[in-house]
Amino acid sequence: MALLVVLFQALRVASQVASPSWNSTLTASLAERVTLTGAALDVAVDRLSPDGLFDAEPFGIAGNLYSQMADFDIATNQTKYESILEKSFQLVDTLGTNFSNTLTNYGLSFGHAAAKAHTAYSSPVFLQYAVQSWWFGRGRTISESDIAAGKNAGKNFTITTTCENVTMVGGTYWDDELGEPSIAGVGTGYFLVLSALLAEATSDPLYLQAANESANFIRSHLYNAVGIAQQFMNSTSCEVYGEMYSTFSGLMIEGLSILHSITNDTSTQSLLSDLIVAVIPYTAWLGENGIVDDQGPLGSMNLLQGLGTVYARNSVNATLRQYVGDYIAVQFNAVTNLATSAGTNIYGRSWTGPPGDIFSGTNQTIALGALISAIGLEIAPSSSTTPAPAASTSSTATGSSTATSSSPATPRSRSHHLGAILGGTFGALAFVTVLAIAWWFMHRQRPRIDTPDSVQPATGPKVTPFIAETSVMTSSGSQITGFGQRKSRSEHREPPAPSTIDTAQSSHSSNVNPQPSIVETNRDTVSVLPTERLVQILNQRLQDRTWDEGEAPPAYPVV
Ligand SMILES: *[C@@H]1O[C@H](CO)[C@@H](O)[C@H](O)[C@H]1NC(C)=O
Ligand SMILES: *[C@@H]1O[C@H](CO)[C@@H](O)[C@H](O)[C@H]1NC(C)=O
Ligand SMILES: *[C@@H]1O[C@H](CO)[C@@H](O)[C@H](O)[C@H]1NC(C)=O
Ligand SMILES: *[C@@H]1O[C@H](CO)[C@@H](O)[C@H](O)[C@H]1NC(C)=O
Ligand SMILES: *[C@@H]1O[C@H](CO)[C@@H](O)[C@H](O)[C@H]1NC(C)=O
Repeated sequence: MALLVVLFQALRVASQVASPSWNSTLTASLAERVTLTGAALDVAVDRLSPDGLFDAEPFGIAGNLYSQMADFDIATNQTKYESILEKSFQLVDTLGTNFSNTLTNYGLSFGHAAAKAHTAYSSPVFLQYAVQSWWFGRGRTISESDIAAGKNAGKNFTITTTCENVTMVGGTYWDDELGEPSIAGVGTGYFLVLSALLAEATSDPLYLQAANESANFIRSHLYNAVGIAQQFMNSTSCEVYGEMYSTFSGLMIEGLSILHSITNDTSTQSLLSDLIVAVIPYTAWLGENGIVDDQGPLGSMNLLQGLGTVYARNSVNATLRQYVGDYIAVQFNAVTNLATSAGTNIYGRSWTGPPGDIFSGTNQTIALGALISAIGLEIAPSSSTTPAPAASTSSTATGSSTATSSSPATPRSRSHHLGAILGGTFGALAFVTVLAIAWWFMHRQRPRIDTPDSVQPATGPKVTPFIAETSVMTSSGSQITGFGQRKSRSEHREPPAPSTIDTAQSSHSSNVNPQPSIVETNRDTVSVLPTERLVQILNQRLQDRTWDEGEAPPAYPVV
């Protein structure tokens, strides 16, 4: 029995390598990636209207672009977009109080961007914008005092204080309509990332607590049976519903990555690792050859932004980080080869083609999610050490000054991946075999009464039964139209109607976590040996075999 569990875990770990069908070989050099991405950004920046927004597109899309401008400068160690961001924020700041919007996530996208800009440029003006936006999000988020009062100031109904015996603190409402009870994964996710970035920038415990509350809400209330974040929860009926998009998990990944940088907390790291391992292969958006295909309003932009953050911040162990890097490389290759016509720098919505020829701020920023996250990817140095040509990278138009470490752009060979896959699989099998033999020996040599301690690995937590409380969902049968699929910037949009949802996706953890910290839970598996430990063991093996071709990856500056 224990062996089955170990086998299951080992196979799960072994799957953390790129599939052979993935085109994860990165041929574009760092300088080329920087140039391409800068050009794609510039096309979008040029299309902003005089008011700092995109015409005929949702309010928040410009905020997402601002985030990407700052992310680009963080990844390339430049200040290319600082002054234009300053001007743009000034313009949007005049449009409403604290970047408010009917849809919470659209308002918060500017706070997310401002916090990134503060990270990039350390300028107090951006910090002030981020704080303003945080207060906007705070008002839309259920606080301890809302729970005590049974009411959020923006709503006209009584809040259910707990669902499945877990507090509702930390949930962010989807919109500002008085009677609308939906808490949204996207709003909660944006508030999580904004709070975490502000916690990092200011060390103010106010923000750290808010970030933990948001993360706890998502983990406790929005995860489905396999640990993927869902779209909506009704704060009066506790019903969870909506579409499965990667946006909510992508924001959770970004938030947890930042939280882990702040606290170095291992339970945050396992939560993050578990989420990544669940999200990448999730069939709702794992497309052909590993190319992500997410029909949501924001596509897979937030997923790629989150994974890029994890990679850059080194938030997970080396095996998982490699898997994340390969996945990002697949998306980069798809976007640059299939979603654009060469030379146009305009990107279409589908990453498997055909190329887009008409500019759309939404479609462009979705593609930019992949382009920006790929800038930081490390290309394994060539083993046939031909001396690198003298650094003459200054010929490129953009980012030349920063392409300092443009290592020889030798594509990693297929055998590297195959080796990793075989190494992972055989490593896992060998490991299981060794365990089986050890187990057999212990049983053969000792009387049964001696076994309780020796059977379980010393490091393993107690086996806890997985309790699936499948709450019954009533379905009204109506379809969600997504979050904020508006035809224009005007605030009209379809309200989220409760819709059908797989009952399999509606289980809730019964674990309560009253303090503002993230508690590790094994939701979908009975765990004997923690995944992390297995990853470590396998990683050791992999390093002994196929990954000995160089020293540890160069340290990437923590942003
Ligand atoms: C980034 O630039 C600053 C100064 O412009 C420099 O001090 C720092 O070392 C650079 N960092 C990297 C990683 O290149
Ligand atoms: C706007 O932000 C400021 C902080 O900069 C805060 O004091 C104020 O209460 C906020 N107003 C609203 C309406 O959210
Ligand atoms: C709900 O949580 C409280 C405190 O966290 C606990 O005392 C109580 O037993 C729980 N109730 C159920 C039904 O789990
Ligand atoms: C709350 O506001 C909505 C309009 O947004 C209205 O239809 C509803 O009747 C109100 N409910 C209460 C309890 O006042
Ligand atoms: C953006 O992508 C969507 C989905 O493919 C498409 O319907 C739309 O026309 C695109 N926008 C533009 C301006 O091409």
